[in-house]
Order: sequence, then C-alpha cells, then structure tokens
Amino acid sequence: MPAVTVTPTSSAPISDERDLMFRARLHRWLPDVLDGLRPLYDDRADALADDLIDLARAAYDARSPELHARDLERLLRPDWLQDPSMLGYAAYTERFAGDLRGLIDEIPYLDELGVRYLHLMPLLRPREGDNDGGYAVADYRAVRPDLGSMDDLEALTHALHEAGMSLTLDLVLNHVAREHDWAAKARAGDPAYREYFHVFADRAMPDAYEASLPEVFPDFAPGNFTWDDELGGWVWTTFNEWQWDLNWSNPAVLKEFVSIILDLANRGVDVLRLDAIAFMWKRLGTDCQGEPEVHAVTQVLRAITRIACPAVAFKAEAIVAPTKLLAYLGSGSHTGKVSDLAYHNSLMVQIWSMLAARDVRLAAQALGNLPPKPPTATWLTYLRCHDDIGWAIMDEDAGALGLSGHGHRSFLAHWYAGDFPGSTAKGLVFQYNPATDDRRTSGTAASLIGLDAAEESADPVRIASAAAALRLSHSLIMSWGGVPVIWSGDELGQANDREWASEPGHEDDNRWAHRPRLDHDRATTRHTQGSVAATVFGDLVELARVRASLPHLHGSVETAIGPIDDPGILVTVRDHPIGRFVGVHNVTERRRAWPSWRARELDVADAVDALTGSRLEWGEGDQVWLEPYEVLWLTTN
Ligand code: GLC
Repeated sequence: MPAVTVTPTSSAPISDERDLMFRARLHRWLPDVLDGLRPLYDDRADALADDLIDLARAAYDARSPELHARDLERLLRPDWLQDPSMLGYAAYTERFAGDLRGLIDEIPYLDELGVRYLHLMPLLRPREGDNDGGYAVADYRAVRPDLGSMDDLEALTHALHEAGMSLTLDLVLNHVAREHDWAAKARAGDPAYREYFHVFADRAMPDAYEASLPEVFPDFAPGNFTWDDELGGWVWTTFNEWQWDLNWSNPAVLKEFVSIILDLANRGVDVLRLDAIAFMWKRLGTDCQGEPEVHAVTQVLRAITRIACPAVAFKAEAIVAPTKLLAYLGSGSHTGKVSDLAYHNSLMVQIWSMLAARDVRLAAQALGNLPPKPPTATWLTYLRCHDDIGWAIMDEDAGALGLSGHGHRSFLAHWYAGDFPGSTAKGLVFQYNPATDDRRTSGTAASLIGLDAAEESADPVRIASAAAALRLSHSLIMSWGGVPVIWSGDELGQANDREWASEPGHEDDNRWAHRPRLDHDRATTRHTQGSVAATVFGDLVELARVRASLPHLHGSVETAIGPIDDPGILVTVRDHPIGRFVGVHNVTERRRAWPSWRARELDVADAVDALTGSRLEWGEGDQVWLEPYEVLWLTTN
C-alpha cells in the first residue's frame, strides 16, 4: 500500500501540486476502498487495492487540464446535482439528433428548455441485431459506429461543458453481450474468462436459484439461465439470453470495470448510470437483488472515482421496493459513499395513480412514509423513462387505506391501457404475466395522460385539460427536490410512435412505442402560439425557470406531505432554512377548494405563488379555489 503523506509546500511546481492533490484524495478515500474490498475478496483485498490505485493514478495523470479544473469545481460545489437549476433530459442520440456530431447542433434546443443534465441512452458498441436498446454492450471502449467515434464523444462532452451541461452515460455492469470479447474467450475455453460469468454444467444449481428468482422479461425471455452449446453450460442471463450476467465475486471483473469507468471519465462523462445495479450479486435462496455486496462494490467504484476524477457522480438504476431503495443512496456504513442519485420510482408511480384515481390519499400514505434519504444524495424525479412503468403499489400502503394492492395495480394497468371506463389513455400492455396477473405499461407521457387522444378529438377543451394535467405532473417532479428528467419528446407532448414495431428487432418490445424519434416538425411549432407543442414546451420552460429561482427546492431538503382536506388536493411542504415552500396540487379535472384556515395553519396565508407572482386570494366560503389541475408554489419570502 503506498504511504500517504500530505505535506503542503508553498512554491511547488504544477506537477508537485498535482501529486499533492492525488495523495490528499488517496488519503481521504483509501479507507473506503479497503472497507469495500475486504468483505468482498478477503485476503486478496489489499493486493487488489494496490492494483486499483495504480489504475487511478494512471488515469489521474492522463486526465486533461480541463477535466482537472472540473474536478476542482465539483469539489468546491459538492451539491451541484441538488441545485434547483438542474434540469435533465434523456434521449437516444440517433432518435434525437442523428449522431454525436448532430447532437452538438441541438445544444441550443436543450438550452432553450433549460437543460443542464443530458442522459444519452447506451451508445457504446452493442451486439449486432437486437441489443435491448444498447444494453447488451459488445465493446465498452468504442462508440456505436453509426453514432460516431470516441473522439466525437469527447467533442460532445467538451461542447456540453461549455454550454453548462453535464453528460450521463449508462454503465452496464450486470451483464455484457454474448458477443463481448470476454464471453467469446469464455466460449473458446479460456478458464480465466469462464470465471467472468456464472456458468453451470447442469441444471442442479440453476434450478436451485430459480426457486427464489423472479423473471424480468417473462414474456420474451423467460427464466434466468440459458444453455450455450459452445460454452457447454448454463450461463446466468437475468435479462435476454444474449445478455450474460457477470460474476462480480471475481476480482478480475471489478478491475476491468474500474478501468472502463476511468476511461469514460477521462472522455468527459460526468455521471454514470449504474444499470440494473440491484442484480450484480447472486446469493442462493434470495431474489438476488440488492444483496449487501452490491453496495460494497459500489463503494469501491465510487471511492476510486473520488480519487481519480471527483467530477464524476453515480446514479443508481434500482427499480426496487421503496423500502429497499435507500440503500442505493447509502445507508449504514455506506452512507455518503455509494450513489449520488437514484430514480424515485415510487413518486413516478404515485403521480400516475393520483391522476387515474383523482385521489391523493394512497400517494400521501406511500410517499409520506418513505424514510428520509441521506441529505447529500439526490432523487432523480421523472414522469416516465425509456422503460415500461411497473405498477409498484405496495400491498401495505394499499391495505392501510382499505384497498387491495393487487386490485389497485390492476386498475392502473387497465386505466393506462385505456380499457377502463372513462380512461382516454393510450398505453400498451408490457410483459403480461398470466402467473401473477401482472401487467406493466408502455407509453409516452402525452399518450398516457390523454393528450394524445384529446389531440385526435381536436376538442380544445379536452386538449387544454390534458395539457394542464401534464403541467401538474411536471410541476410535481420539478418541486420534489432532485434532478427532474424529461424524456425526449415529452417536452412537445409527443404521442406514442405508432410504427414502433416496424424496426427489425423491436417487434416484441413495445417499450419502443415511447422512444419516438423527436418530431422536428412539431418542435418548430413550439413557438407558434396556441399549438399543443407551444403549451407543453412553454409550461416546462416556465416551471424550470421559476424552479431555478427557488432555493427552497434544493435537493437536500425533504418533501413532507401536508394534511389532506380534500382527497383531490395534494399538499407538499418543504422546510428550507430560507423559508417554507408549500405546493398545492389539484390532481382532478374539477375546481376544488382549499380552506384558508389550513393556509394560515401552514403559515402561508401571506405567501406568494412563485408561478404567477400573485398573493393567495380567498374566494367564496373563505376558500382558495383551484382550477382543474391547478398548481400553487407558495413561498413566504
Ligand atoms: C435496465 C434498463 C433496461 C434494460 C435493463 C437490462 O433496467 O433500464 O432498459 O432492459 O436494464 O440492461
């Protein structure tokens, strides 16, 4: 282990300063590396730490001056992801802008929307043919040839940084494509590479594991193991049969990924989205999700980036039960040491649930009972993403309100598929599982919320109502605290891609319905007053602008649920040292009243609605009357 001494000298030349900085960071974060490694790899841990530090040092030395400056900036502003001006956008490069160079040309469009964080869907070279939207990576060191090269990626990160934006890329670390070099070597009989995967000669172990494993894609990829003739064994494949799960109990896999991470960091990538992170560690008799070792591995990876490239943050993609989610943002000994961001799946599901049920009580129950997250970590809030929506309503929450969890999940699935009386949603059923009667849902925000159907009807009243519901939903993800991320096309109210199945390889996977190509014609109408695109885009720009001016919305502050006086109105309360923020949301299509005494009790009777700049007004019956889907962002200073 290298000895770490930090002795400042006054007139040190740059290289000495650099060396000092590295040593200081090593001194600070090495204990986290070791604490993470030891329970994972026992007596191999210390030697492994030496190897990882060598990799970190080499990457640090190779890092560009521009990125070293970015490291410093982020060290001075560790809450950069929590800033209320952080607005995110996610897209497939080719569907949004053609290729990486084309994306540079679209930066002004993103800037107009207020975007400061861009997540580009997997763009490292995937396998040929179906590749799960790029989540089957064949080469982590190359860009998809039709999108450009690694040099283009660097040019893009540079241009984004100049424009004040950060780039997020996926780090697919649970599995690689069957065509990845490691898998090819395993198939060719190299025992070292066979150890990169979970391979079993017969069904004994796979059957034992299957007894407690769920299925992620029961419809098109049932089971969790795939027989491979060349390999002469069953290989673990949680997702598709050509996505081979990696064996993270093999330290060689960890070393490979440290090197990949450092390489991407030195290309200027700011945030790594740790794809399907829950599945990384396997343990017999469990569902093999979120095992404690997952967090130890993350701690090691995070500490190494903090040493070599602290500008880089981690986002956990863990779509798990709310009670299990917090561990990904750090709990117990891992607090503050793992991911910086995690998807707020529960908020997303509850927004859709409130809209369908016109009732906030279940959301209040579920969201109000979530344990607080660590103050240094941040939610990624979203209305929908590139994946389907799984109706993650907890039985306990439903039960507390006298509802059946299964019944409500089924209601939501049917409502958003448009086959429940009164629903105008146009979602598609994803992965119907007859064994559990579980149905998930695909669809763009506009298609799910009824804007798509309203536009088809050409009824201006219906269009205005659906657009207001969309604004309300966006206001919730913007005022919760965290990084709100808009999925490409939703800023224009784009409908499902009706042609989603026509692309080869996509026909079985209707998630492509909500990954439409950006409709550039529609985008040009965003400046045409009265157009749907202008309404939706304009609402978002305005919400983002106001949000950025409100320190109350800093991500470190928790959102609490206020008292419910009317089941159609959700009240949120955020107590920032600067003052109180109260959000009042009418989630229904009818006018609703909020009692003035409640506003007085919450100390916001004199507040200003930051969205309109007006003071609260009492109408008939000493009530604040809220228009359908109206939102108030009340602040007292
Ligand atoms: C994540 C991705 C999803 C993908 C899966 C396997 O859940 O979001 O799109 O299918 O991982 O990589």
